[in-house]
Order: sequence, then C-alpha cells, then structure tokens
Amino acid sequence: MTKFARIVTAVPMALLLLVCLGRGGDPDAKLRSDQDGLALTPPMGWYPWNEFGQEPQNEKLIKETVEALVRSGMKEAGYSYIGPDEGICFSREASGKLTSNLARYPSGLRGLGDYVHQQGLKYALYTDAGTHTCSKAMPGTKGHEFEDMKAFAEWRADYVKIDWCNTTGQTPDSAYPKLRDAQLAAGRPIVFSLCSWGEGQPWKWAASVGHLWRTTEDICAPGKASWPAAMKIVRANEKLFAAAGPGHWNDPDMMISGMSGLSEAQNRSLFSLWCMMASPLIAGNDLRSMTASTVKILTNHEVIGINQDPLGIQGRIVRRDGQAQIWAGKRLFDGSQAVLVFNPGEAPAQVQVTPGDAGFEESATLYVRDLWTHQTSGPRAGSIRVTVAPRDVALLRISKTSSFPLPPIIVADSYQVVFHASGKSAQELTKAIAVKNNGSSELPLWKVSPGLPSWLSVTVAQSGKTQTFSNKASAAGLAKGHYHAVVKADNREPISGLPMSALYYDVDLEVSGAAGGPANN
Ligand code: GLA
Repeated sequence: MTKFARIVTAVPMALLLLVCLGRGGDPDAKLRSDQDGLALTPPMGWYPWNEFGQEPQNEKLIKETVEALVRSGMKEAGYSYIGPDEGICFSREASGKLTSNLARYPSGLRGLGDYVHQQGLKYALYTDAGTHTCSKAMPGTKGHEFEDMKAFAEWRADYVKIDWCNTTGQTPDSAYPKLRDAQLAAGRPIVFSLCSWGEGQPWKWAASVGHLWRTTEDICAPGKASWPAAMKIVRANEKLFAAAGPGHWNDPDMMISGMSGLSEAQNRSLFSLWCMMASPLIAGNDLRSMTASTVKILTNHEVIGINQDPLGIQGRIVRRDGQAQIWAGKRLFDGSQAVLVFNPGEAPAQVQVTPGDAGFEESATLYVRDLWTHQTSGPRAGSIRVTVAPRDVALLRISKTSSFPLPPIIVADSYQVVFHASGKSAQELTKAIAVKNNGSSELPLWKVSPGLPSWLSVTVAQSGKTQTFSNKASAAGLAKGHYHAVVKADNREPISGLPMSALYYDVDLEVSGAAGGPANN
C-alpha cells in the first residue's frame, strides 16, 4: 500500500469508528450488546475444535465447511458464524504486529473473511487472553490487546472467541474488560465470546464485557464426543439460567450432535437441551460428512425457533419425575411456552406434563405442538401424557391458540459489497444485497443507521419476506485509494416489538486512477 493510499484509508476508517460507536460507545452501558445491538438471540454457527482439534485446520477445511453449511440447509436455518479455532492462524512479527499464516491460509485471514462474507456468512476467529494460545502455537493477546483487536478488525472478524490458557497472574474480570475496550477502540462490531471455562464466574459480571461466556470446561477432547461430559455440563449450565438474556448468554460449549459415538436420540436430546437453555448453537461436528438424520436435527426450524426466541429466556428444570426431567420456564415471544421432557435414563419414561408445569393455569384449554414430530393436538384440557424413550426427549410448544409462529431467522445472500471505480468507468455504482426472513412474519423495513460516508448511500425495499439493500457508491471527487464502511441496520420483531440483532455488512470501494477528483497527489 502506498503512503497516500494509507492516508485515504485512514479518513474513512475514522468516519467508520464514529458510525459504529455513534449509537452506543457508552462506557456505563449495562450490557455489551447495548453498544452494538449484536447477539440479541444466541449466536449460531460452526467452530472446528470439537471434531478436529488443531489439525487439519486450514483454509481448505473452512471453505469446504462453508460449502457444506450452505448445501445442507444450515445457512437457511440461521447458522452464520464460521471460522478457525486454535488452528495456527497467525504469528507475531518482531514489530509486534500479527501476521496471517499463509502456509495454512493462503488467502490470508482477511481473504478468508471476504470469502465467508461473500457466501452470506459471518466470520469467526479465535485468540487467547494470555501470553499464548493453549498449545502455545499462537501468540496470545496479553500486552498486545489493542493492536491485536485492531488486526482482528482489519481481518473483518465478526465474532472472536478469546480463550484463557497461559494466563498466570491474570484475572478474567480485568483481562476481558481490557479486551472489550480494545475491541471498541478498533471500531468494528464484534461478538465477543469469553472462554474462561467458568473461571472467574463470568455470569456475574461479563454481560457488560461480551455477548457470551463459557460456563464450563470443554465438552470433549477433539474427535471424542463424550455423553457423560455433556451431561455434567448441562447440570452446571442449567443452574445459571438467571444470568442469560438477549445479548448475554451462558455458553455450555460447542455442540457434539452429529459426532461419532452418539445415537440419533442423543443427538436430538443434546440439540433440544441447547435450544431449551438458550445456548449458542455452535455446531462442532464435521459438516462435510453429516448423515441425513444429523442434518434433520440441526436444521429443525421449529426447534431452532425455541432457541432464537426474542425473549431470550433460558429454560430450567422445574420438576423431576423418576429419571425424567421436566424443563420449562421458557415463555416465548407469542405467549406460548416451551416444555422439554428429557429422559436421561436407561428405560422408557412416562410423564404427565401439567398446564401448571408449562406456566398456564391448571384449567387452561391448550394446543400442544410436538416440535420433533411436527404434530399439533388440541384444544385440550388437563395433563399431557408423554412417553419418552431412553436418552431421548419430547419437545413441546404449548399455547392457548393454534398458531405457532416462528421467530425471525435472518439469511443474507452476502455480507460484503465491493465496488471498483476508475476514471474510465461510471462513477455511480449500484449493488444490492438481499436479506430474507425465514421466520413467519413479514418484518418492518430495516432502518439503516445514519452517518454513512458521503460516497455511499443505502436504500431498503421490501418484497414479502425479502428486503433488498441497494448500495449506491459515488466515486466522483474521490482520489485514488481504498474506502471502506460498515452499514448497520436495525429492526424489531413485529409480534413482541422487541429489537432484533443488528445487521451489519461491509462495503468496499476501490478507486483506481482519478475517478473524478484530483489525482493521486
Ligand atoms: C480451550 C477451549 C476450546 C478450544 C481449545 C483450543 O480448551 O475451551 O474450546 O478453543 O482451547 O486449544
């Protein structure tokens, strides 16, 4: 990059910072998500660690997994965050700056981010709060917080998991806030995933720092799914239900559904528990070789609707009946209630779910929807008799009405718009991205935040459940260089009136030659 290009980039970046911090930037904000509107429902995506560990994480694996995620219907179901975990992604130069590992990631970490964004997905990266990552294969952020978070912003990360290895002498409640400040200073909206495995009890203080925090140790060693370990994690995470809500989630780790060693019933149970606990739905299996049964489980829109409910309540065990657990306390955005009957035992369980269990008066007349069989019964009064096979679940949605609307699931065709302008080409350029809602409602029009740079304007038009963002760039008067902006848009879920997670995408304008203004001088 020439010195001049660096200067013209610096001006739009400063503008961008104002755009991003304009709404929030409030140091007294109670929630981190008040600053950026992110993760108001639990993040959904994929990380490689559970299945692969460090090897063979590389660009090829991530790209193949992106393709599998799109092909399998997971993108349409709402999974969006994807990228390497501890996969030897970068090293530190003598100057202190982070640099991409081009042997493993030939496009560089920014290039991989662009690829992910252009598939309509969001880019996740990984680092550590200590001196090194766990295997010591990568540098940690200690002492380099601000320059590292700047590098992550330049690589266009949308989600960063920050681990807790090699942190002797550090405490989570001071190390992580520093990283939060560094992220805000870097100016890019980023979902912050704290990963101290419950150390420092982040559920007590981290809602103002990040959007989710691990509550427990790892769910498994790479490639070795463990049902008992998963059950231990569920027991610990269940107790923390009061700490979860929109923008601040308990994270019981990436899922193991679809890994080898688990039965179909266990896959279904684990997924249902994660949905009922409003846990981040980060798949950890090999998406390239999933069975049809795993795909069906991971893409069940009705079950995902429980997880992505705008109220963001974490369900809990309200009663036990023999071995069986009755999970409830999860009111949903339309006034209906989710109830999970989980049978961790070895023999079938027969349970009577009462209207009271589900949060209704005992005399209520109710409709019951089974979210795994997709059958509705009712209207009916009295208890609901449920039979559950060993290690299986029944997941019910119970309502006073017979309609069971799905909350919004937002799917974009791209999260990056790239314009090229030169003296010879037209100076007004237009490109659109389409954003659709796979939930039941037609959404109000997305509202684009003010404060875009003068070379960019965005208008939104609606056709049914798809909205089109038309981006118009005008290179007139711009000198040669690279210009970048992040567009932010907000919306509200129409049934509850609650805010939805903010939508962000990148716009790049490359001006080569004198497009209209004074040339490169
Ligand atoms: C920790 C985390 C895991 C994974 C590994 C990488 O154990 O909890 O999820 O990121 O580090 O080394």
